Amino acid sequence: MKKKRNSPKKKKNSSVLLNYGHSNLLTDSIPPHRPPYVVVLAAGLGKRMKSMVPKVLHELSGKPILFHILEKIQKVLPESPLALVVGFGKERIAQAVASCQKFSQMKISFVEQVEQHGTGDAMRYVMDSPWAEKLVQNDESVLVLPGDCPLISEELIRAVTEPLHSGSVLRIVTAIQEDPTGYGRIIRKKEKGKNGVFKIVEDADATAQQKNIREMNAAIYLFEGYFLKESIHELTPKNAQGEYYLTDLIQLAHDERRVIEDICWSKGKEVIGINDGWELAQTECEENLRIIQNWAKKGVIFINYYSVIIEGDVIFEGSALVHPGAQILGTSRIGVDAEIGSFTVLKDSEIGARVKLLPGCMIESSRIYEGAQVGPYAHLRPESVIGKNSRIGNFVELKKTQVGESTNIAHLSYLGDATVGMNVNIGCGFVTCNYDGRVIQGERKHKTVIEDQVFVGSDCQAIAPVLIRKGAYIASGSTITEDVEPDSFAIARSRQINKPGYAKKLRGKPEGV
Ligand code: UD1
Ligand code: CA
Repeated sequence: MKKKRNSPKKKKNSSVLLNYGHSNLLTDSIPPHRPPYVVVLAAGLGKRMKSMVPKVLHELSGKPILFHILEKIQKVLPESPLALVVGFGKERIAQAVASCQKFSQMKISFVEQVEQHGTGDAMRYVMDSPWAEKLVQNDESVLVLPGDCPLISEELIRAVTEPLHSGSVLRIVTAIQEDPTGYGRIIRKKEKGKNGVFKIVEDADATAQQKNIREMNAAIYLFEGYFLKESIHELTPKNAQGEYYLTDLIQLAHDERRVIEDICWSKGKEVIGINDGWELAQTECEENLRIIQNWAKKGVIFINYYSVIIEGDVIFEGSALVHPGAQILGTSRIGVDAEIGSFTVLKDSEIGARVKLLPGCMIESSRIYEGAQVGPYAHLRPESVIGKNSRIGNFVELKKTQVGESTNIAHLSYLGDATVGMNVNIGCGFVTCNYDGRVIQGERKHKTVIEDQVFVGSDCQAIAPVLIRKGAYIASGSTITEDVEPDSFAIARSRQINKPGYAKKLRGKPEGV
């Protein structure tokens, strides 16, 4: 490494004092410490995923790996300017971030790493970009995170972004892993009675002896801005991978006798980096179990919890019973004492108290009010609403359909673009014929309205648009093409004719045989 530079170290240290308040003498005049700048490295192709989807967009627990990290940064450091380094799949990443409403308040800038030559190279693009000008001018600190460590906790972000101690230029996070294969290994050296970090050796460059070291580099760092700006150009790609390693800054700092701080994080799973499909699968299980454990401790009962999937934004309002194989996804919300049946998939839906979902249902972007029962094998497509104590039975499909209280649609029916009132009974095999290729008042799908207390017999169809008024009675086997007045009886089927003996004649057999 190069000889020690003449960086404005004096000025820098005094500014550290002023910024971060480590001087006893200056305490009164010290402004509160400013949040660090943040850099997330997400330009890599993620070769080991063997996919054309950028690695950070692969989903974990229902959302991109990258979003897990951004969400936590947003919680701990909402004011921090953030640079997201993109390269491979940059448009897809930018579009995914832009389309996520919850990140709209964050100060995110995209820095393009035109060719990907390693993590050090990525940081070089950042430090040479206009985004970094202010951070260098004001000698701010910079939190650097990889885009592939989704389990990082808010607690760890808080710990690593504590102000750097006076004279220190960087802080690294390490963890002891049972199997550290693939990670950079931490090399420590006893000096002045301390066993400080001296350098990081990447897995590809490590000797057999170094590979035995179980302390790994989490790739989470807090740098002093000036140090980063000055030293980032000193990296060289002289290593097994021919890349610029950000990790080489550690030895560089050591050689310059700078102070290096380290945090050995005891919860090693939080710093796992995802590089291939197996690591993604394991991390997914890890995150799922963490979520289930959290809710189970708050009273939710899971039968055979290993088979259940609960995503991170799901909310249980109290106890509930979740059967094997259930999947509760997205922003679903589950009321007190609700029951989710085996292999039922619930996405972005709200379920009231005591709702019972029987096995095998698919329910998406819908709302079910308290005491209702759905399934088995019912399909609620988006924008469906089921009123209190109603019952939707097997093989019923609803789409954009609102059902009132205490209504039964118990078997084998399709209702699309329909409104059904209270205390309605819909018999087996009812179909709303909502699409005939015509466009009426700009709508391609036509509406069926069934008011309160209507009784629809089995095997009926409503040719929409059509209105069945309150208290009407529809005879079984009717095809309703015209509106039905309140309390009327509608029958729309041809009369039956019985021809005595005709069946035998058809069979061609003489009478009496
Ligand atoms: C890196 C660390 C390793 C550490 C591990 C922790 C280096 C050299 N190694 O290794 O010490 O134990 O993380 O998970 O830093 N990226 C870019 N541009 C590039 C290359 C990578 O933006 O040119 C991004 C990737 O998109 C990724 C992050 O940097 O989000 C880390 O890169 P990755 O290739 O996964 O590094 P590791 O080999 O895991
Ligand atoms: Ca990685």
